[in-house]
Amino acid sequence: MPSLPILDHEVFDRYAGLSLPRHVSYPMPNWWKPLDADEALAIWADVASPARTRGLSLYLHIPFCESMCKFCGCNRTIVRKNSKGAKDRTRRYLDALLADVCSRGRMFDRSRVVHQIHWGGGTPTYLEPDEIRELHGATREAFTIDPGAEISIEIDPRVTTRLQLETLRELGFNRISLGVQDFNPKVQKHVHRIQPYAMVDELVRHCRELGFESVNFDLIYGLPYQTIESVENTVRQTITLSPDRVAFYHYAQIPEKIANQRGIHHDAMPDSQTKLVMFLSAVVLFEAAGYEFVGLDHFAKSDEILTRAVENHTVHRTFQGMTTGAALDLIGMGASSISTLHEIGFLHNIRNPDEYADAIESGTEVSQRGMRLSHDDVIRQTLINDLYSHGAIVPGDLEAQFDIVFCEYFADEIERLRTLEADGLIEIDDQLNIQLAFPLGRVLMRNVAAVFDAYLSGDAFRTGELHLYSVNA
Ligand SMILES: C[S@@+](CC[C@H](N)C(=O)[O-])C[C@H]1O[C@@H](n2cnc3c(N)ncnc32)[C@H](O)[C@@H]1O
Ligand code: SF4
Repeated sequence: MPSLPILDHEVFDRYAGLSLPRHVSYPMPNWWKPLDADEALAIWADVASPARTRGLSLYLHIPFCESMCKFCGCNRTIVRKNSKGAKDRTRRYLDALLADVCSRGRMFDRSRVVHQIHWGGGTPTYLEPDEIRELHGATREAFTIDPGAEISIEIDPRVTTRLQLETLRELGFNRISLGVQDFNPKVQKHVHRIQPYAMVDELVRHCRELGFESVNFDLIYGLPYQTIESVENTVRQTITLSPDRVAFYHYAQIPEKIANQRGIHHDAMPDSQTKLVMFLSAVVLFEAAGYEFVGLDHFAKSDEILTRAVENHTVHRTFQGMTTGAALDLIGMGASSISTLHEIGFLHNIRNPDEYADAIESGTEVSQRGMRLSHDDVIRQTLINDLYSHGAIVPGDLEAQFDIVFCEYFADEIERLRTLEADGLIEIDDQLNIQLAFPLGRVLMRNVAAVFDAYLSGDAFRTGELHLYSVNA
């Protein structure tokens, strides 16, 4: 294996100890506020305004899973299919989601073309093939979908059948994202997620045979009983299966809030120095295998659409990780879904699936939290997105896009950045172009972004309250 990059561990420890957001949104959801129906509807009216011609991206949330993984931080509800009342409960949710799709579709003029659809969860392949057809059929009726749209779905290899994959492919789904997490049997056993390599191998083969354009893996590092060697083995096994894209997530935990994480053996979790070596080893192994390192935690083959999006500046960081389609209005449907509305703001649906169904049935607006962006939010959001997506800030680009003089607008931030420059996280040239240094800046990217987060001040920085967000919706 090629050698690991050399890194100043004293500097790393000093910065890595801070509790900072990962900026899956800016501002982070803990700054959003409850909205009444009139406020939410006013935001929807702006997004659907006839003057707005922006393309659309759709997110549909299916919250159900057959069993609980101990590490899980997603918004999911465990409903065993053969348990009493399971059919009625999931049918009721699906009916509510169909109604939601229908009513959001009615808000938009048919000229607002959908370029991306993503089904997330929970486990979208909890749905049976006929339910999958029903939901996608309703989406097609409600919206105008670009024939070349990216249509993706998250699947759990343990519960996904060949018939479901055939149905998805036939409907036009072209991207599959597999929850893999880790291949080590001891780690899998502890986190309650047994899925042998052979199972994943078989599923990947089915996806390739059926012609899915892109097969992605989710991996997690920082889990109990992982060692540097075991994570390297998982990465090597992953490379053997040749996914087009890999999300390499750091294990995020809030056991005080997420009950299932309390069963984790915390004393068997790797410490921060070990996790750092795991991460750097993954960078080295993936790059040696021809993958490009994208954003904070993604790897993609050089011909993958994500890598191309980095080149043409259409990549952005969202609740679904790094994605393409930065200029689209993302409309979230289903419980807990988040709508990310370009230069307007965020809307967050009711999280609990039963309460969501109650609201839909009674005609109540389901987006009940969110915020409108100020002009300053939009500027900082753009800058933070550039930093995560491209590892750089280019003042000339921001000055061309917004009416600001970079060195005046960010005078305080530039001064604070000088310490990070001296510590080797960033390089700043005479025009104030800022570049993350490798490896320190890439692994401490959040510390650089935090300098530009106007909501991080005083106590929020110190108390760790910024950890209060879940992994996706
Ligand atoms: C909705 S799940 C993917 C689909 C399906 N439920 C599955 O698990 O295969 C989304 C992804 O979030 C990631 N994830 C969940 N909990 C996490 C946590 N606590 N820290 C980091 N990543 C997490 C996992 O990698 C998981 O694959
Ligand atoms: S990781 Fe996936 S399968 Fe496991 S509980 Fe979370 S959403 Fe469900």
